[in-house]
Amino acid sequence: MVASGRGSNLKSLLNALEGHPTAQVAVVIGHSAGVGALGIARSHLVPTVVIAESNDLKAWLATLGAFKIDLVVLAGYLKLVPPEVVEAYRGRIINIHPALLPKHGGRGMYGDRVHRAVLDARDTISGATVHLVTEDYDQGSTLGQATVPVLTDDTPESLAKRVLGVEHRLLPQAVLHAAREGHPVPFEFMENGP
Ligand code: GAR
Repeated sequence: MVASGRGSNLKSLLNALEGHPTAQVAVVIGHSAGVGALGIARSHLVPTVVIAESNDLKAWLATLGAFKIDLVVLAGYLKLVPPEVVEAYRGRIINIHPALLPKHGGRGMYGDRVHRAVLDARDTISGATVHLVTEDYDQGSTLGQATVPVLTDDTPESLAKRVLGVEHRLLPQAVLHAAREGHPVPFEFMENGP
């Protein structure tokens, strides 16, 4: 798992994988030791690694190799994964984005900026997307999406909260499907799934 943020998606994933026979979060990578997600990892006794320079190819490959990583999950990671890592793990890196791609994605589209763009566009539906990671921001094929309504009195903050709620169910479903199939696959989001 790779994260730069507070780590709420990590928490929901750890909960969903508790007791799973094969899938587990082997390591959490963050860009600085103070990242919330690394604190959550430590409190769950999950190993953590800091990769301060996002283009530190040696550190990426050494970490993913040492922990025998099958699936890389980006949740709130705001940098590009080095292209050599994308190539080495092609089809095995997924990202969660807080909007319905292909709308409202790309470089610089993260956090409240995404939700502000949704409100500015007067979209009536938003949601979250899990997609394969390629060399470009938010360009890989979509694996699954979950929708939420956009309300007329929404602020970026209120919309972010609603989307995050559905992210916490979407990402675990993506990982559980990947664990079952041996690699990430397109899936239908189930409202009552984990
Ligand atoms: C999530 O909303 C995720 O979709 C978003 O960062 C947040 C991380 O939250 N990612 C992006 O905006 C990527 N473009 P978390 O640290 O609580 O899981």
